[in-house]
Amino acid sequence: MSLKLNKTYLEGFISEDEYSGVEEKVKNAVSELEKEIVKKDGFAGWATLPDNYDREEFRRIKEAAKKIRSDSDILVVVGIGGSYLGARAVIELLGGEFVNEGADLKVLYAGNNISGDYLLKIIEMCEGKRLSVNVISKSGVTLEPAVAFRAFKKLMEDRYGEEEAAKRIYVTTDAKKGALKGLSDVAGYETFVVPDDIGGRYSVLTAVGLLPIAAAGFDIDALMSGAKNAMELFAEPELEKNPCYEYASIRYLLEKQGKKIELLTCFEPAFNMFGEWYKQLYGESEGKDGKGLFPATLNYSADLHSMGQYVQDGQRILFETLLRFEKSNKEFTVEYIDGDFDGLNYIAGKTMSYINHQASEGVMLAHNEGKVPVMIIESEKRDEFNVGELIYFFEKACAISGYMLGVYPFDQPGVEQYKRNMFALLGKPGYSI
Ligand code: PA5
Repeated sequence: MSLKLNKTYLEGFISEDEYSGVEEKVKNAVSELEKEIVKKDGFAGWATLPDNYDREEFRRIKEAAKKIRSDSDILVVVGIGGSYLGARAVIELLGGEFVNEGADLKVLYAGNNISGDYLLKIIEMCEGKRLSVNVISKSGVTLEPAVAFRAFKKLMEDRYGEEEAAKRIYVTTDAKKGALKGLSDVAGYETFVVPDDIGGRYSVLTAVGLLPIAAAGFDIDALMSGAKNAMELFAEPELEKNPCYEYASIRYLLEKQGKKIELLTCFEPAFNMFGEWYKQLYGESEGKDGKGLFPATLNYSADLHSMGQYVQDGQRILFETLLRFEKSNKEFTVEYIDGDFDGLNYIAGKTMSYINHQASEGVMLAHNEGKVPVMIIESEKRDEFNVGELIYFFEKACAISGYMLGVYPFDQPGVEQYKRNMFALLGKPGYSI
């Protein structure tokens, strides 16, 4: 089954009049994207990536992942933002939030914050374990990963000596320039490329995401196949036959109605980091020139017991997009018990997937009654193929949404501004406020 957009709970929220004209807007957005794809120095390399990736590098990624799995207990992934979120999102969506428990190879993440306590804890967790490090930074100078990598480079060299450390440090960075590229050339680290035509938040299907994902034991061939399937499906020009364009259009129309927030929700705890990836993708792509929906996420049913109140009854400034997986990877069935002390026998024999599905219907019905427009993105299950499909769906919809909104979806001037200020305040040569 391919991804579907269920609009049952959207009924009555968008009028026929509002829909008229949107088709033209989508066409224009698609044509903007097509121009970006062929533009020299464009940033839409991700759009053709599932077909057009470097097969030789892909082979090296699988080789490196195999080596890491055979000679390490822990892979430390050093990176922040677009250089880290995609990998973690996929690893945890596929493997669940306890993915490291009992795993042959644990993946730990460093360099994604400015906390000494966090860094020291990760270093402590690495004591006595066989280690590899994958440092990921396009620029090579981002403060958070640079500080963490300085610490891990020393740790690796102290533990293994320079020669062996060099065999256990993998660098994903610019093909030609930057501090990490220079260092790798001297030290002999194996390097992988962050392509020039793919920004950080769109880079999960490049070496940026693929090496950690493969090292964690997931099938990156299936991930790419899912993305390729999506690339073909979501090229369909007719709006009503293309869930990706429909999703972008509905976001656009709801924003026009005055909605300020898109809530992406899911009834799977494994969704947390995927939600973080989505927030970066949409927040950085659309939030500029005073425009853009604020992307937020809630994890149900836990958040129904906290933020559920606001969704149901707070300011009517939001709409909801539920990401629903139709099948569980494994099934748990509620048992029948004599005496029925907890009164649960009415669901005895029912699976958690069934309960989850019914609960999600009940919640969306309630949110609808509370005047929240809801779309449901239906994905078959949390496997590599379907997750690859989802990634491409969200990436393409994000680009189309951005163009419909009238922003350029591939830059992030706001992020650059904070980096400049921080460097200046820390006294980095060449920077001033
Ligand atoms: O999307 C982006 O550009 C950012 O999130 C970057 O990926 C992040 O700041 C890390 O940058 P770099 O890869 O240069 O270390």
